[in-house]
Amino acid sequence: MRAVRVQEYGKDPVLEQVPDPAVAGPLDVLVRVDAAGVCRTDLHIIEGQWAQKSGVQLPYTIGHENAGTVVDVGDAVGNVAVGDKVILHPLVTCGLCRACRAGDDVHCEDSRFPGIDSDGGMADLLLTGARSVVRLDDNLEPRDVAALADAGLTAYHAVRKAVPLLYPGAHVVLIGAGGLGHIGLQSLLALTPAEVTVVDLAEDALGQAERLGAHHVVQAGGEQVAEVLDLTGGKGAHVVLDFVGEQGTEADGVAMTRDAGSYFVIGYGGHVDIPTIDVISREINLIGNLVGSYNNLVELMTLAAQGRVRLSTRVYPLDDAIAALHDLDQGAIPGGRAILVPEA
Ligand SMILES: NC(=O)c1ccc[n+]([C@@H]2O[C@H](COP(=O)([O-])OP(=O)(O)OC[C@H]3O[C@@H](n4cnc5c(N)ncnc54)[C@H](O)[C@@H]3O)[C@@H](O)[C@H]2O)c1
Ligand SMILES: [Zn+2]
Ligand SMILES: [Zn+2]
Repeated sequence: MRAVRVQEYGKDPVLEQVPDPAVAGPLDVLVRVDAAGVCRTDLHIIEGQWAQKSGVQLPYTIGHENAGTVVDVGDAVGNVAVGDKVILHPLVTCGLCRACRAGDDVHCEDSRFPGIDSDGGMADLLLTGARSVVRLDDNLEPRDVAALADAGLTAYHAVRKAVPLLYPGAHVVLIGAGGLGHIGLQSLLALTPAEVTVVDLAEDALGQAERLGAHHVVQAGGEQVAEVLDLTGGKGAHVVLDFVGEQGTEADGVAMTRDAGSYFVIGYGGHVDIPTIDVISREINLIGNLVGSYNNLVELMTLAAQGRVRLSTRVYPLDDAIAALHDLDQGAIPGGRAILVPEA
């Protein structure tokens, strides 16, 4: 089969032929990948940011936002059958550890993360497990939802955590309305009554945010902190969701957070540097966010089936995967997601 493989950090991955994966264990599920999202995390992987953390051996296949059709199952799989359309939770988890039993799939003690620490879905086939597959509603197609598997799930998970903080009258700022952020915005509007301000560098992303229902948009470029303070009576927002986490948004995000408010880090690459006296005197909360649970994904797929969350996509054939990665790197897909399909 074809697969997009990282051969060496700092270099473009290579599309090459590799052996097909096959069902080996009783709970294995083999999926034909009908759609794979291209994520900024893939760029971070190629840069080498994950090399030590994931410990993955090169070469390997990237792609952690996958949806497709079940083509084979192990003997003990009862929740899906050959031919079912599915979206994949990004981790393959054990189901037995304390975190799994609490529904906290991301912190499973015996898991793998295809596309990060093992072969992923920018390929014709992907091997996953019964615990990771969510059957798609009849009105949804893999190419319309694939990036909800990670981009959407991460954004939804962060918003879901912020829901108790976002009472009527509360203000939330969303920095970076790209692949993750435009799903975060729709999730905010579906789940909370809060007033929403979107901050982004790209006019296209801001235009889309307005069309999706953001109450205010602010173009980054120098005055974004002052503008957010103006919009919030000089106090800042109750919640700031930072989908960039580098290039200065770390400082902006903290400055946009009101006293006793919460700054959610979702995008990454930079550093948060806050004097501890500010943390205590302003009593601000710094909240990390990693992907989301299986149940979060099921909830998000319900919103998708209801038409309340829609991915904005640009489709590329799998053979053009490297071009899609370049386009993302060069900011050519503002406010949306590149999706790889077997043939376009
Ligand atoms: N925490 C997690 O579990 C998790 C999961 C997936 C992705 N991520 C990370 O989330 C981040 C966003 O990924 P994405 O795929 O949505 O990227 P993207 O490129 O699609 O979107 C980023 C958006 O931020 C905007 N932007 C860039 N710099 C900005 C700045 N200085 N100020 C304001 N806006 C700015 C861009 O115009 C774009 O609209 C990446 O860092 C990615 O690695 C985190
Ligand atoms: Zn991703
Ligand atoms: Zn587990």
